[in-house]
Amino acid sequence: LFSAVEMAPRDPILGLNEQFNADTNPAKVNLGVGVYFDDNGKLPLLQCVQAFEKTMMDKPTARGYLPIDGIAAYDAAVKSLVFGTDSEPVKSGRVATIQALGGTGGLKIGADFLKKLNPTAKVLISDPSWENHRALFTNAGFTVESYRYYDASTRGLNFAGMLADLNAAAAGTVVVLHACCHNPTGYDITAAQWDEVIAVVKAKGLTPFLDMAYQGFGYGILEDGAVIGKFVDAGLDFFVSTSFSKSFSLYGERVGALSVLCANKEEASRVLSQLKIVIRTNYSNPPTHGGAIVAGVLGNPELRALWEAELGEMRVRIKAMRQKLVDGLKAAGVKQDMSFITQQIGMFSYSGLSKDQMVRLRSEFGVYGTDTGRMCVAALNSKNIDYVCASIAKVV
Ligand code: LMR
Repeated sequence: LFSAVEMAPRDPILGLNEQFNADTNPAKVNLGVGVYFDDNGKLPLLQCVQAFEKTMMDKPTARGYLPIDGIAAYDAAVKSLVFGTDSEPVKSGRVATIQALGGTGGLKIGADFLKKLNPTAKVLISDPSWENHRALFTNAGFTVESYRYYDASTRGLNFAGMLADLNAAAAGTVVVLHACCHNPTGYDITAAQWDEVIAVVKAKGLTPFLDMAYQGFGYGILEDGAVIGKFVDAGLDFFVSTSFSKSFSLYGERVGALSVLCANKEEASRVLSQLKIVIRTNYSNPPTHGGAIVAGVLGNPELRALWEAELGEMRVRIKAMRQKLVDGLKAAGVKQDMSFITQQIGMFSYSGLSKDQMVRLRSEFGVYGTDTGRMCVAALNSKNIDYVCASIAKVV
């Protein structure tokens, strides 16, 4: 039965973890996967999470099946976070939200629903985009193409190219947009540029799918979420996937969501009914623990304030590491101007290093980033930064 099965290539991001774990170099540094580590190189267990888990342990509960669309309080908390508690879409009940298995799960539920809704539509992703976007939408049955986004020659954005490609897209095309902290480049478009994108999306009848995996890692929770309000104000219907993997440091709990903004409450209930079929026929219903933590923290004013402070600390530390990286590379003898790293935002930096240089970094120095030159600056710390800078200086 399986004699003709071919060996699949390693995942370009998670496959690096396997390689990293097997590497015996004691100085190794993992800047591959998008995971935040604290200044001691430890994966944080947030205080707000620990505090809520303590209350859970004080009052142990049995684990029945959750509703197909997840914990109601969780879905409500996601809506508030993404759209704003007092926003018109939330108040009018025209958002359909489901608890999903991480941000990836939210994207997949949305992709499967869209494929049923509009089977001939194409999907456009940014060039470059998160490595899994293309694979995920392709596996959902779509033809996936890209719109211009990054210009390697200027190490900046090609916004004119982006607008031109969106303008040329057929009505109904699904456009995957990074709401904030673009993965992998670290370059976001400005608020004014978002207005231009939204005008094209509206004029051309495109279907926006916003991937918001890093809310709070750019400028703040509200600031990063502001783009959602712009799409609402434009009167568009759209999809938003949410992830709490990074913002709650709950990677392994797979806590995410999908929200679909519809024209009215009645339409939202029909959309929700279809999303539930996609979920039921894939994994039936989501797990309890991670969703209960996020709902519990977001629903408790004190714990929520603690979460915002802890998220703020992560954001500030990442920014500080960007500056240290720029300074450290200069001190290590890198001649080219690397100051663009501080103009990037979020967890990643597109370093501009070639595949050959990334492979050398890995094999000779145990410094892991993706082949595309992406490095997770959120994994740099005061102990590994000098080694990383010295290693980069040797390969450039
Ligand atoms: C990343 O881009 O490294 C993260 O989003 C983790 C993942 O699932 O790829």
